[in-house]
Amino acid sequence: MRVLVTGGAGFIGSHYVRSLLGGAYPGWEGARVTVLDKLTYAGNLANLAPVADHRGHTFVRGDIADARLLAEVVPGHDVVVNFAAESHVDRSIADAGDFVTTNVLGTQRLLQAALEAGVRTFVQVSTDEVYGSIAEGSWDEDAPLLPNSPYSAAKASGDLLCRAYARTHGLDVRVTRCSNNYGPYQYPEKVVPLFVTNLIDGRPVPLYGDGRNVREWLHVDDHCRGVQLVLEKGSPGEVYNIGGGVELTNLELTERLLSISGAGWDMVVRVPDRPGHDLRYSVDSGKIRSLGYEPRVDFGEGLAEVVQWYRDHQEWWRPARRAASVSSVPESEQGEPWTHPTFR
Ligand code: NAD
Ligand code: DAU
Repeated sequence: MRVLVTGGAGFIGSHYVRSLLGGAYPGWEGARVTVLDKLTYAGNLANLAPVADHRGHTFVRGDIADARLLAEVVPGHDVVVNFAAESHVDRSIADAGDFVTTNVLGTQRLLQAALEAGVRTFVQVSTDEVYGSIAEGSWDEDAPLLPNSPYSAAKASGDLLCRAYARTHGLDVRVTRCSNNYGPYQYPEKVVPLFVTNLIDGRPVPLYGDGRNVREWLHVDDHCRGVQLVLEKGSPGEVYNIGGGVELTNLELTERLLSISGAGWDMVVRVPDRPGHDLRYSVDSGKIRSLGYEPRVDFGEGLAEVVQWYRDHQEWWRPARRAASVSSVPESEQGEPWTHPTFR
């Protein structure tokens, strides 16, 4: 089996590649994996270091929006799993251009290349954010797509292009829509690694707005097992939600991170809210559960392990923080209009 993993040097894609090549998915031990990744600020070859010398692994640096490159790379693969994306909501508010290029045009070019190359199955890693925000209850896969941020609008566009390639061209495309992931190797701009690394350095953490926004948390290993299950047992043209079932307000998440880190609420700085900040995400995972899916990682244990991972792997995240100047927000800026923390 030849598998093309796009965005395989990022947080979730690299976990999938390490799992696949590490033998975590029975029956796929002999798979040969090509990682195609542009190595943006979020892509890091260190994420693939544990499998760099694996004989089944080939790395290609390149852009999923580069049709000429795709015509060379995609043929010969049985499966494409597309993790490649601009993934951070705050960056999409500051500048949405790359989000449209990669998440929309890149997805379309990859679909087209897969169609032309006769790829057997294409899995699109989408997100629960395409549904928008839900005050109560949970979305099933038939809920309308009502994205609110430039990031989620671009992901929704890519998601719908997958539907179109399945319906119009008969390409076997399967879409997953997962909730918020946490785990090792997550770039320290997302809330969990940002807060954890700030606390390691004794710096305050910037909590947006009133902190009552709710996210549904899932360990990255459970997400990747869901993607693999959809690849193995899903049906062509279908969409599958993947949720963790652990819903927390940001206040509750912050409380847990402070507690694990041995810090108090004096380390929290209230900052202006993210514009268009979705109040709550919650997916109904019944459809993928009917394929046999069950999250395995206990949230409390998983979160404590992840905090320990960031303590033990400072050589991994310190260069990223220096490069992006990811920071906590000075108290002097409280009450200022929202700006992307990276640019403060
Ligand atoms: P990430 O930002 O850590 O990694 C993205 C990877 O894609 C990087 O390696 C980057 O270099 C690569 N990339 C970006 N543009 C590219 C391009 N044009 N061509 C080739 N490679 C490119 O993101 P992540 O958190 O690992 O998310 C992976 C996927 O999962 C994304 O599609 C995201 O929308 C989706 N997702 C993420 C979460 C989450 O909580 N992080 C939840 C649900 C879905
Ligand atoms: O739901 C899936 C999505 O989860 C993925 O599709 C995205 O790629 C991923 O980035 C994530 O999006 P969120 O916007 O939910 O994640 P983020 O870590 O940016 O923020 C989580 C919550 O924490 C959100 O309500 C905003 C809040 N937050 C975030 C940051 C970075 C803060 O309060 N302070 C912060 O500094």
